[in-house]
Amino acid sequence: MSDRPQQVVINSPLDMHLHFREGAMAQTVIPLSSYSFAGGVIMPNLVPAVNNLERLTGYLQEIKSIVGDDVFQPYMTVFFKDYSYEELEQFKPHILGIKLYPAGVTTNSEDGVAALDRVETTIKYMEELEIPLLVHGETHGFVLDREKLFLPIFEHLANKFPRLKIIMEHITTAEAVALLDRYENIFATVTLHHLIITLDDLAGGLLRPHLFCKPIAKRPEDREALLKAAIAAHPKLMFGSDSAPHPIDKKEACGCAAGIFTAPIALAALAELFAKHNALDRLQAFVSDNAQKIYDIIPPQKFITLESIPFKVPATYGDVVPMFAEREISWSITKLF
Ligand code: DOR
Ligand code: ZN
Repeated sequence: MSDRPQQVVINSPLDMHLHFREGAMAQTVIPLSSYSFAGGVIMPNLVPAVNNLERLTGYLQEIKSIVGDDVFQPYMTVFFKDYSYEELEQFKPHILGIKLYPAGVTTNSEDGVAALDRVETTIKYMEELEIPLLVHGETHGFVLDREKLFLPIFEHLANKFPRLKIIMEHITTAEAVALLDRYENIFATVTLHHLIITLDDLAGGLLRPHLFCKPIAKRPEDREALLKAAIAAHPKLMFGSDSAPHPIDKKEACGCAAGIFTAPIALAALAELFAKHNALDRLQAFVSDNAQKIYDIIPPQKFITLESIPFKVPATYGDVVPMFAEREISWSITKLF
């Protein structure tokens, strides 16, 4: 065996679920994504939420000014509420989709939907206007069952709105993976962390707050099902990091905020994971091609070379602790063009 490093070149990697925040936090985290990805889907759960045209265009401007000369396309979303047809028509040229949060299930989702059956007119308009619906699919049930309990709602929506593209965001269960093959109009994103950790990593020993997120990491058999679909580059599954930065004092606290910050390590860690499973030839589909086909988008061209050369993850970026802080990842980004 040669001791030359292994190498893979990815064309236009995309992060299809990403939290950029605003202000100082955005200044810290945006460059870390715009360096290594060619685009990303930007979540709208700010305070106040991104739920009108002015807020949307203002936020896009802020993102663009921080992205600067980096090749990076922000794909915007707005926060789901009971919108009129006219409002949706106005949003359409500026957004990739609308993100629905059930009220109170995660960070800044208090203004989410309390009763789904009362907002179906808006969903019908979205179907007519061909605006995808991105969903945080959790109920208020027992924490380990929240995603599973939500799946019948996905089935109801898929049946009632057959032309609506429905994206199950950050899936964490084997049951959600199975749903992909049962409904033509259901798709999903999966995070890096849910491909790697289980509940044991978070709470099996000393509590690890930087691995706490919503939906919470599940059982080994769930992780296996997610990993199997990801390394097979299941055509209805896309990479979406759900990189969700919170300042250190909000994570290392009694009442730890939910969110794992993975943006700066995501690509290298994915290369490491896919290499470990002899699936490097499928990384391109998982981190870019599938999303391009599902959303019918053509991202800017950007080639990223990854090599099996170790990379030591910093302890912090600004006042945010990344996943795998101070640990070594056996792959790194070596070239961008
Ligand atoms: O862990 C999470 N953090 N899950 C979410 O759904 C939201 C996110 C955040 O915004 O911090
Ligand atoms: Zn998220």
